[in-house]
Amino acid sequence: MKPFRLLTVALTALALLAPLPATASPTHGHDESLREAAPRGFRIGTAVAGGGHHETMPYPDPFTADKPYRKLLGTEFSSVSPENQMKWEYLHPERDRYDFTAADAIVRFAQRHHQVVRGHTLLWHSQNPDWLENSDFTPAQLRSILRDHVRKVVGRYRGQIQQWDVANEIFTETGALRTTENIWLRELGPGIIADVFRWAHQADPHAKLFFNDYGVEGVNAKSDAYLALIQQLRAQGVPVHGFSAQGHLSLRYGFPADLETNLNRFSALGLHTAITEVDVRMDLPESGVPTDAQLAQQADYYQRMLSACLNVRGCDSFTIWGFTDKYSWVPVFFEGEGAATVMWDDFSRKPAYHVLRSTLAAGR
Ligand code: XIL
Repeated sequence: MKPFRLLTVALTALALLAPLPATASPTHGHDESLREAAPRGFRIGTAVAGGGHHETMPYPDPFTADKPYRKLLGTEFSSVSPENQMKWEYLHPERDRYDFTAADAIVRFAQRHHQVVRGHTLLWHSQNPDWLENSDFTPAQLRSILRDHVRKVVGRYRGQIQQWDVANEIFTETGALRTTENIWLRELGPGIIADVFRWAHQADPHAKLFFNDYGVEGVNAKSDAYLALIQQLRAQGVPVHGFSAQGHLSLRYGFPADLETNLNRFSALGLHTAITEVDVRMDLPESGVPTDAQLAQQADYYQRMLSACLNVRGCDSFTIWGFTDKYSWVPVFFEGEGAATVMWDDFSRKPAYHVLRSTLAAGR
């Protein structure tokens, strides 16, 4: 071997042996992904697009049909949440028929990509099938329908779901239980909440069981109501393990500056916390294209939400509600607002994506 070549080999070997400085990214000839940048044990997640509003859109099912989408889903994230595919209307389309096709496919995908799954959701007022909502079941029948559903669904994925959003959005803004809209609370009373957590725990003792809601990022009447309810349930020995804020923010309303303080009050009870459905929407200018200032502010909101979670003991799961504007629910549900995710329609990255990655990397 020529001396020059020998020197190159020796230097390369040395470089390989030298420990990487803590801030260096171990890129293997490619940009580091979000999951690669994340601290050990910290889960960076996304919703898996499909069902719900997607069915009204002029594109095929994103999860099964969009290859580049699937690729990013598998490489960028270490946790996935079915956006709609584990909701009642999908899993339980008729009283005596369950359909696990879409949910199973997501769970299989997650296993192949070494991802955990957040199950979403078991007790909610929305996206329930008509056969359930427009029925005249007796309370005893409803209770047994709910118990069977929880046992069957949670049992099917036993050991394969890291966290379940057992109860979703059960309080109103003022901290009152949603006893009008929520069929279970209306027909069976608040005691049903403890039952559902118990049934879920029996069906999968390893899954962490959560309350999940929007508008509970800060300290307010709604988050106060959760704190009180969870304390009460835990005192009764009910298996409640976590509290999560969805994190659907809008530049219209400002950043919930006391997010970290709020999560810490739950953490202090020994609970897990999580941020489960992050997006940051904005009023789109006439052109439909956000300004640089809007994008910078959006990135700042994403960064502050992630930092709050990273700073709180037991907050080790941060999920964005979709990673590309191509499939975001926001323009469909919030008139005039959009651009809420971290990637454009063509999957190119916004400042918010880069800030998530650098914040994760700084947390290692
Ligand atoms: C949304 C989905 O993103 C849409 O596809 C669907 O049409 C409606 O529901 N809080 C939740 C989520 O807990 O389940 C909601 O997801 C968004 C608000």
